Amino acid sequence: MTHLNLENKKILVTGSSRGIGAGLAQYFSKLGAKVAVTYGRSKEQAEAVFSELEGNGHQLLALNLNDFKATGDSLGQLIKNWDGEIHGLVNNAGISRDQLLMRLKEEELLEVLNTNLASSIWCTKQVLKPMMKQRLGSVVNISSVIGHMGNAGQVAYAASKGGLEAFTKSLAKELGSRNIRVNSVAPGFIKTDMTQDLSESQKEELLKNQPLNRLGEVTDVAQAAAFLLSENSSYITGQCLHVNGGLYM
Ligand SMILES: NC(=O)c1ccc[n+]([C@@H]2O[C@H](COP(=O)([O-])OP(=O)(O)OC[C@H]3O[C@@H](n4cnc5c(N)ncnc54)[C@H](OP(=O)(O)O)[C@@H]3O)[C@@H](O)[C@H]2O)c1
Repeated sequence: MTHLNLENKKILVTGSSRGIGAGLAQYFSKLGAKVAVTYGRSKEQAEAVFSELEGNGHQLLALNLNDFKATGDSLGQLIKNWDGEIHGLVNNAGISRDQLLMRLKEEELLEVLNTNLASSIWCTKQVLKPMMKQRLGSVVNISSVIGHMGNAGQVAYAASKGGLEAFTKSLAKELGSRNIRVNSVAPGFIKTDMTQDLSESQKEELLKNQPLNRLGEVTDVAQAAAFLLSENSSYITGQCLHVNGGLYM
């Protein structure tokens, strides 16, 4: 087994202006990848992430995942800029709108399902042609421990992430013969904007059930995703890699 290496791989990371996505982009560039950093609302943050990437050949693009037509156009342009090649896609962008089902609004439900699930499927569709032509590709879906365990107050989020897992397995079956692998990484509780509002008592409660007894770092997720994008995982498809400190087994 060689050291983890993403030398010259062209990898798109959705939602890489902040949080886990920003960490993924930075980590992949350190391993030699050319990375496409995308942003929805946080343009300035994305520019800062982009300016700190190592190496060259990176791309920075606006991507409103709730607009399928614009997403298709942006990803088409990205693939052109990369001479028709793309080797990795990480469907990372995601939101949560936590609410008991009794109180959940129609727009919140649709926003979560569209951003976390439908747009991931749509982005993947955009990269299939070049990956099929190359007979090489790796798709990594960032799901969540909540998609496996469920959680009161997160029905829409849990359903979107459970859906991503089902999508992962189905697509792995569709694309295996083309040497395109599809896997997921299911993080537990990672230190980002998404978890910053957890109170001290909520954190304590979480850590009680977690053998490694700490919140995860963005690099914990980045290392798992990099492995699934690399040739070191070339015989792995349709799998979920749990990165949760043992919270869920
Ligand atoms: N943090 C955790 O503990 C945790 C645990 C399990 C799973 N996850 C999953 O990991 C992924 C990243 O989470 P995070 O904590 O890094 O979240 P975050 O800090 O809130 O960042 C979310 C990212 O998604 C992008 N995004 C959201 N909606 C978008 C849209 N409509 N169009 C384009 N981009 C959009 C945001 O871009 P802009 O700001 O530019 O709009 C941002 O870059 C998510 O899928 C999340 O569900 C996180």
